[in-house]
Amino acid sequence: PNNTDLVIVGAGLFGLTVAQQAVEHAGARVHIIDVRDHIGGNAYSYFDDETGIEIHKYGAHLFHTSNRRVWEYVNRFTEFTDYVHRVYTTHNGEVFPLPINLGTINQFFHASYTPAEAKRLIEEQAGEYADITPKNLDEQGKKLIGKPLYEAFIKNYTGKQWQTDPAELPASIIRRLPMRYNYNNRYFKDTWEGLPKDGYTAWFEKMIADPRIEVSLGVDFFDESQPLNRKAIQAAGIPVVYTGPIDRYFDYDLGELKWRTVDFKERRYDEDDHFGCPVMNYADADVPYTRAIEFRNFNPERAESYKPGKTVVWEEYSRFARRGDEPYYPINTEDDKNIYAQYQAKAALEPNTVFGGRLGTYKYYDMHQVIDTALTAYDEQVAPLLRK
Ligand code: FDA
Repeated sequence: PNNTDLVIVGAGLFGLTVAQQAVEHAGARVHIIDVRDHIGGNAYSYFDDETGIEIHKYGAHLFHTSNRRVWEYVNRFTEFTDYVHRVYTTHNGEVFPLPINLGTINQFFHASYTPAEAKRLIEEQAGEYADITPKNLDEQGKKLIGKPLYEAFIKNYTGKQWQTDPAELPASIIRRLPMRYNYNNRYFKDTWEGLPKDGYTAWFEKMIADPRIEVSLGVDFFDESQPLNRKAIQAAGIPVVYTGPIDRYFDYDLGELKWRTVDFKERRYDEDDHFGCPVMNYADADVPYTRAIEFRNFNPERAESYKPGKTVVWEEYSRFARRGDEPYYPINTEDDKNIYAQYQAKAALEPNTVFGGRLGTYKYYDMHQVIDTALTAYDEQVAPLLRK
């Protein structure tokens, strides 16, 4: 550790961004460790040997942002394709566009409503529940968009996400269900979106392509049998940016924070194109997975490089995470929030250590948000430690 000015635990977007900034602004010598055998954290992807298709190992990752600082920053390391995200859903043997829009509504009701007519209809259907204070998600859903659309598109999908009957789920899970009274089915509303032209990993490698940044993979910060462990680093007085789970850092002594995880089941089809789109949701209970991703359709511009007659689809099965599972979505019950606040108070007292990223702050962040918080954390918290 003698020739290291900063140790970063976690080679996800938070860690990579801080590393890049520390070199650029302070000329620091940075050592990044990650327990996994690759960089990029959950946004990592690889090119499948058989087909040449880029597969997002921890679930589909679409880059989108309205934050100019972040957009300019990421464009220093990669170009983006002109991919525009759109999602479809299968319900009752029919395919509908999402998010629920005028196309979805007219197809569902076999109608040709104008925007005003559709709005009136939904208000009428939702109005039946106007006087109810929702006791659970089921009632909340009906109150927001009326029974027919809620039951077709939201109820069973959400039930599968939580592996719980929506009548047993808290109403607070869904605060609003945006409806679009036009035919726009562009999924994100952000100013910029796209996918990294040469893939996610090429982007991430470019961020840390500097001889002052060293990366050690397969290294657990808490494993005292290896040299860059927590005790050794702290004894040497080297500042640390920690992006692992905050409860793990404190040996779970105030309890465990709860997460949902996703299991992926891969299927290979002898077809050029299985769905005709990258994401197919399944709104009904008879299909056990929530959605399926056909990765080749994220990058149609690479068609020439794909093996003909082959495609790869990943089905997603959602469930509560146990220790040892990949934590994906914070559950954030009142209990979780209390526990996190206590860990956060303890973290503030840790000398020389900055907690960041989705695991270090128990928050769901999109990539652009994690980059934004990392740029700010570098300026406000990490840079002062490097000047000491
Ligand atoms: P991240 O989890 O990526 O990195 C943390 C790293 O720390 C990991 O690599 C881990 O191995 C390492 N680590 C933990 N403990 C350690 C220890 N003890 N020792 C060493 N290393 C340790 N965002 C978006 O913008 N568009 C999208 O479409 C999606 N899609 C999406 C799908 C799914 C299923 C999920 C779960 C998430 C998304 N995201 C997303 C969010 C995106 O994944 C997220 O914003 C970033 O991965 C967060 O980067 P971090 O660096 O915070 O964590």
